[in-house]
Order: sequence, then C-alpha cells, then structure tokens
Amino acid sequence: MEANIQQKKRIFSGIQPTGQLTLGNYIGALRNFKLLEDEYDCLYSIVDMHALTVRQNPAELRKACLRTMAIFLASGLDPQKNIIYFQSHVHEHAELNWYLSCFTYMGELQRMTQFKDKSAKHADNINAGLFTYPVLMAADILLYMSDMVPIGADQKQHLELARNIAQRFNGVYGDVFVVPEGYFPKVGARVMSLQDPTRKMSKSDPEETYIAILDKPDVIRRKMRRAKTDSENCVEFDPENRPGVSNLMSILSALSGMSMEEISETYSGKGYGPFKDAVADSVISALEPIQNEYERISADKAYLESVMQDGADRASRIAHKTMLKVRKKLGIAPLKL
Ligand code: TYM
Repeated sequence: MEANIQQKKRIFSGIQPTGQLTLGNYIGALRNFKLLEDEYDCLYSIVDMHALTVRQNPAELRKACLRTMAIFLASGLDPQKNIIYFQSHVHEHAELNWYLSCFTYMGELQRMTQFKDKSAKHADNINAGLFTYPVLMAADILLYMSDMVPIGADQKQHLELARNIAQRFNGVYGDVFVVPEGYFPKVGARVMSLQDPTRKMSKSDPEETYIAILDKPDVIRRKMRRAKTDSENCVEFDPENRPGVSNLMSILSALSGMSMEEISETYSGKGYGPFKDAVADSVISALEPIQNEYERISADKAYLESVMQDGADRASRIAHKTMLKVRKKLGIAPLKL
C-alpha cells in the first residue's frame, strides 16, 4: 500500500484562511483538488502562517481556519485519500523557509507583483513577512517533493520563483528537490471582480465584488445582477474590450462546460438579464451541495479535530524525511554524531 502511494506523483496546494473563500478560489483551485485525488498523492494545506502577513483578529482567524477546513471537506475532498492539514501544525515549513531564504535574492522578491499590490494595500504594515511570503510558499511546495501545484493564474509568478529556488539549491547540492509544475484550469484561471473586472476577484476586497463559496442563492443572484458589464448587450468573449461580460462567460463556461461559442449563441441579443441569471444558476448549483455539506461538517468539531490531527501526523512524516536530507546536504549538525 505504502509503496503504491509513493509511486503516485505528488500534488501540493494551499489556501489562506482569511475572510471568506471566494468563487475565484473555488474555480481557480479548490475544484481541481477533488479532480486530482484519485490519480495523485495530494496534500492540501490551510496556510495559516501566510495569513499573518496581514494583521488578523485572532478570534476571527481561528474561526476562518476551521471554516476553511470545513469547506475543503464539504467540497468533497476525502481526508483518507488526501492529506488535509494546517501549515502551522508542521514546523518544518518554518525551518525550510529559513534555509530557502538563504537561496533567494532580494531582487527576485522585489519583482513579485503580489508584494507590490499588497504593500500598496497595506502601506502602514509592509512587514518582512509580506516580502518573504513567496519563500514560505516555496518551502510549502518543496517540503513534500511536490510534482504539481494546482493554483490560479495569480500564483504563477510565485510558483516560478519556487522552481528557481529548487533549481538553484539542486545546482549546489545535487538533486535534492523536485522542480514542481503548475496546474491551471483551462477556463477560469483568473476570475475577476464583479465590480471592477480588470482586477482579480479577491476575498480582501469589498463584499459586492466577490461571491463567497458560502453565499446563499439570493445573495448570489443579487450580486450577479449587479455585476458590471457594459451597454452593448452583446454576449461575446472579448476580455480586452468587454472584461465584465467575458468574466461572466468564463464563470459560466467553467461551471457548465459550455463553450464560449455556445454561450454566445444561446444568450446574445436577449439583453444581459437572462445571461446573468444563467450564470447565477450555474454558480448556485455548483455551490449548493458544498453549502449543505458545510453545515453538517462544521457542526462536527470532533470530526474536524480528527482530520486535523491525522493530517498533521501524515504531513509531518513526509516533512521530517525531507528535512533530514536537507539538513545533511547543508551541513547542519545532527543531534546524534
Ligand atoms: P490564496 O489563498 O489567495 O488563493 C487560494 C487559491 O485560489 C486561487 N485564486 C484564484 N483563482 C482564480 N481566480 C481568482 N480570482 C482567484 N483568487 C485566488 C489562487 O491562485 C490559489 O491557488 N499564496 C497562495 C497560498 C499558498 C500556496 C502555497 C498555494 C501558500 N503556499 C503553496 C500553492 C502552493 C495564496 O495566497 O492563495
């Protein structure tokens, strides 16, 4: 059994437990997690240490962590097949973060667009953690010798950096780390804000700009109806000139499997009303089963605890092995001589 698991390729991905998970998180990442669970050996982490790069209310963060765990499970992820755990429960993430930071250049981190965006958003708290955030992300991925990382397009630059760090380390010490590949959805890799479709949908923006995975059907319909489009009344995929309509088309296509042509043919020339309702329907039918499961799972604290403990134990075993190798390569003194 163990040998069989080892032969499967490994997947790692993480989601920050801040605020509400959004439709962007779902289409860009979470939905793919489930699709990969049979073919791969998967670890999915609630990256609570990353969340601290922005000031958090401790009670809120604690709640958001459990909510995120419950959403992972409610989306259908099987905790037997997948390792579902909290980043902070496996201390090796922090240790590897330090070692890898010694293999990352300031210039590389300065080029990260997320750092630039977040420093502009949180100008009063441009902390060192925000700057070195991508190194911790590289540590997350490399710690488990991950082959593939399912993420949205906004994390592509961070993944590229993780690959560079792995290659640099391997260049000095031999083949220590697996150099990971990204896994992106064909449609919906970047779900945009409903109010400003030139920006990505983000849980840290005002509520009307995103759909939360836990939004009820009436809220979803209302937000969809108010989504920014244009005055052309033309359902045509043209992200450059019609970012609002194109974003809604991507959402519908990602969730219903309809091609852009089919969507255009079905909804063009009828006004945006029926089109927006169809998008809302597709979102509601994707999210409703998750919401129903969520209610059940989030009430079962003992179950959540057991998944957390089991996930931490299983992840720690892999992390421990990697770190023995890494420390040895680096020349870190072992406890037993
Ligand atoms: P986070 O928490 O911002 O987002 C979690 C996942 O959701 C994807 N995503 C989107 N996809 C499409 N459209 C959107 N509007 C959208 N918004 C978010 C993200 O690309 C991501 O896949 N740094 C990561 C968390 C992380 C991680 C990792 C991911 C930490 N360590 C290691 C992979 C591997 C982040 O902030 O994701």
